[in-house]
Amino acid sequence: MGFCDLLGFLFVSYCVRQKNVEKKPSEKFDIEFQWSYINFTWRSPMDYHRAVSNLRYIPENNAMAGIKYYNDRMYIALPRLRKGTPVTLAFIPINSKSKNNPLLRPYPSWEMNVGKNCSSFQNVQSMEIDRFGVMWVIDGVRMNGLTKCPPKIVLLDLKDGGRVLHTYVVPNDVSLYQGGFLNDIVVDESDGGFAYITDNSVQDPGLVVYSRVYNKSWKLRDASMFGEIDASDFAVDGLMNDDLVPIDGIALGPLPVRRKDSRMVYYCALSGYSLYGISAAVLKNEELCKTGEWRRDIEYIGKKKSQSDGLIMDNKGNLYYGLLSRYGVAKWNTKKPLQSARNVEKDKTKFVWPDSFSFDMDGNLYLLANGINKFFSLTYELRLSSDMKFKILRSYTGTNSYLYS
Ligand SMILES: *[C@@H]1O[C@H](CO)[C@@H](O)[C@H](O)[C@H]1NC(C)=O
Ligand SMILES: *[C@@H]1O[C@H](CO)[C@@H](O)[C@H](O)[C@H]1NC(C)=O
Ligand SMILES: *[C@@H]1O[C@H](CO)[C@@H](O)[C@H](O)[C@H]1NC(C)=O
Repeated sequence: MGFCDLLGFLFVSYCVRQKNVEKKPSEKFDIEFQWSYINFTWRSPMDYHRAVSNLRYIPENNAMAGIKYYNDRMYIALPRLRKGTPVTLAFIPINSKSKNNPLLRPYPSWEMNVGKNCSSFQNVQSMEIDRFGVMWVIDGVRMNGLTKCPPKIVLLDLKDGGRVLHTYVVPNDVSLYQGGFLNDIVVDESDGGFAYITDNSVQDPGLVVYSRVYNKSWKLRDASMFGEIDASDFAVDGLMNDDLVPIDGIALGPLPVRRKDSRMVYYCALSGYSLYGISAAVLKNEELCKTGEWRRDIEYIGKKKSQSDGLIMDNKGNLYYGLLSRYGVAKWNTKKPLQSARNVEKDKTKFVWPDSFSFDMDGNLYLLANGINKFFSLTYELRLSSDMKFKILRSYTGTNSYLYS
């Protein structure tokens, strides 16, 4: 209990001011939630027992990948990478009393998480939530044959119980129905709404652009989106990664001061050190994207100190990214050279595969560390144990998401 708490209401205004002054950006992440395995709020005990006995639910096979905060909830995407994964989109209340193994609540419903019905969510890796409370869900993990449904982008109204506002089925020539992998998404609210999405497909990697108002998508393919040989071999938590994993992380620069100025879209291959950028104005121009001319606008930014999975930009132009082989998180002020980036924190137990980031509205940055490489590995044997495999960490930055000014 601090000085201000003791004094109570007498010095309220003094203390409030002090608090704001005192709250400096933290250089550290604290554990908010952690899981040794994932379990859900089942509809009934019978439903749960049936799912366990018919292997519709195999606890150790469930993994979480994308996290996004909205209105006192943390929404969580659970890609189906193995069998026995009954839910692919869920949430936990941020004020959940249990910090260890809190149960996940299927979102928007159990029905919308049923496999083998192409109207419901099949295999979700990530999402973004815009300023209007619309969640842009990419249901596009299609590289493991667990579903035959085409990939889609689904817009949910979080202010209306997750009602489906819009569904867009992605054409096969934009993301392969068998072999595609819509991996991460940023949303640009200008010109009727755009999403920029990485397609991590090994067969056809690229950057997918979706225009909400034109209800249309196109794909950009370039060598800068491929994995790099010299960055392809690295071990995380004893497991060697030696695949050439293509484009994965994506971030969008902060809102420009003058409305007509363009924003930069940053991206990087997972098996890579290089970070690239391209103007959003170029991506939005479908005609230009059909020619080869757009490639002239790709900007090589520089080399990071490690491979990364997810990236996130704040509203002040700071880019945060994980350092996979160094078990840490780095921060780069995009107004300075990439060489000036520094490590926020490194810790071999906390940062096992830093994957997805999210800001809340109070200046906190959340990070999911998930050891997801083990779930992707075809030979790694997953086991139930008390080890904490998923961690949602939190750090105070005093900034907000790139979506806000
Ligand atoms: C999973 O959650 C249900 C409640 O929804 C509970 O009854 C069950 O015991 C839990 N199973 C495990 C293995 O924790
Ligand atoms: C498929 O899922 C949608 C959305 O949850 C639902 O409205 C529809 O009834 C389902 N169809 C079947 C055949 O179950
Ligand atoms: C958007 O495109 C999809 C094709 O994926 C189509 O089914 C849908 O009707 C279109 N919606 C609108 C509003 O044009």
